[in-house]
Amino acid sequence: MYSMSKMQVGFPGYRGMVGSVLQERMIEEGDFKEFDPIFLSTSQAGQPGPEVNGEPTVLADAYDIAALSGLDAIVSCHGSEYTEKVHTELRSKGWDGFWIDSASHLRNEPSSVLVLDPVNAGVIDKALEDGKKDLIGANCTVSVMLMGLAGLFKSGLVEYASIATYQAVSGAGSKNVIELLKQAGSLGSVVSEDLDNPAKTILEIDKKTKEHLISSDLPTDEFGFPIMGNVLPWIDSKVENGQSREEQKGLIETNGILGLEPDTIITDSLCARVGSMRSHGEALFIDLKKDLPMDELEEIIKSAHQWVKLVPNTKEDTLTNLTPVATSGTLEVAVGRLRKLNKGPKHLGAFVVGDQLLWGAAEPLRRALQIVISR
Ligand code: HSE
Repeated sequence: MYSMSKMQVGFPGYRGMVGSVLQERMIEEGDFKEFDPIFLSTSQAGQPGPEVNGEPTVLADAYDIAALSGLDAIVSCHGSEYTEKVHTELRSKGWDGFWIDSASHLRNEPSSVLVLDPVNAGVIDKALEDGKKDLIGANCTVSVMLMGLAGLFKSGLVEYASIATYQAVSGAGSKNVIELLKQAGSLGSVVSEDLDNPAKTILEIDKKTKEHLISSDLPTDEFGFPIMGNVLPWIDSKVENGQSREEQKGLIETNGILGLEPDTIITDSLCARVGSMRSHGEALFIDLKKDLPMDELEEIIKSAHQWVKLVPNTKEDTLTNLTPVATSGTLEVAVGRLRKLNKGPKHLGAFVVGDQLLWGAAEPLRRALQIVISR
């Protein structure tokens, strides 16, 4: 039985990678006390769902439009295909609830607002006052970058940013994480007897690994290519101007999150998948509008919000704290390698790394729901 006073909130796609991180965070924060959750599945309706507040739940049908119409809010962790089908039908039938997701389908619609409240709380408030009810999480790479450098971007100091990304396999999905680990195991097993054999030269080992990486024995169903021992400098489909869609989002969604007109701040990205598990890394070369001393720039970056972790530009601090291994599973977004570039005093270098499953996906949705509930 659901209480009359609490909002009823549906969670389709709660078992995927983003959905699982979202549930974990909601349990940690005690969110489930504030609303009645309904878990929905596209394939297992009627089966037991997760236990919440000590009570068992039963999965509802994620395609049951009549049942979904009774909900106050829907937080979807499915991709665009689900949003396109279900959101369209719900709205066409007059459903007036809050739709919260992180799929790209609704991101650029005028009726949507991109949510990343430590960066754009004012933009979200204004959108809600304007009656917008589609609250959409932005691309994870853009969200992590802006979480790290909100201070600079919001202060209007950025003329242009060039961004090279090092994106974790979990950004591509849970099957890709498993494939990285299978590739690692497969590659290791091919040379395991050679590694401690002094008679084997490093060139023999190298030749053997190269042969294995391009052989059909390496599991590549998900990536289509080796990701272990490799870098894949293309993410998502091709769009205009030689860019990938992931790179194009860097420009569109940076301005979108900040509530700016398109192309107000120009960025160029080159996005690459690397063999890290969780947490995207991003190297930025930024043209500033004016020369400011480093201590002022650091203060601007650090004071943006509580989750920025400024890492001193030393080798030890960097390798200890400015890596995917250091930030994964935490809400801190690390910002380091800050220095004025050789190009001149108006040019700043930076490296940002943060857990893209948290700030890039689950956390903005969790917080968007909190904002809606608290209004
Ligand atoms: N597109 C991102 C990636 C995932 O492939 O890493 C989340 O936006």
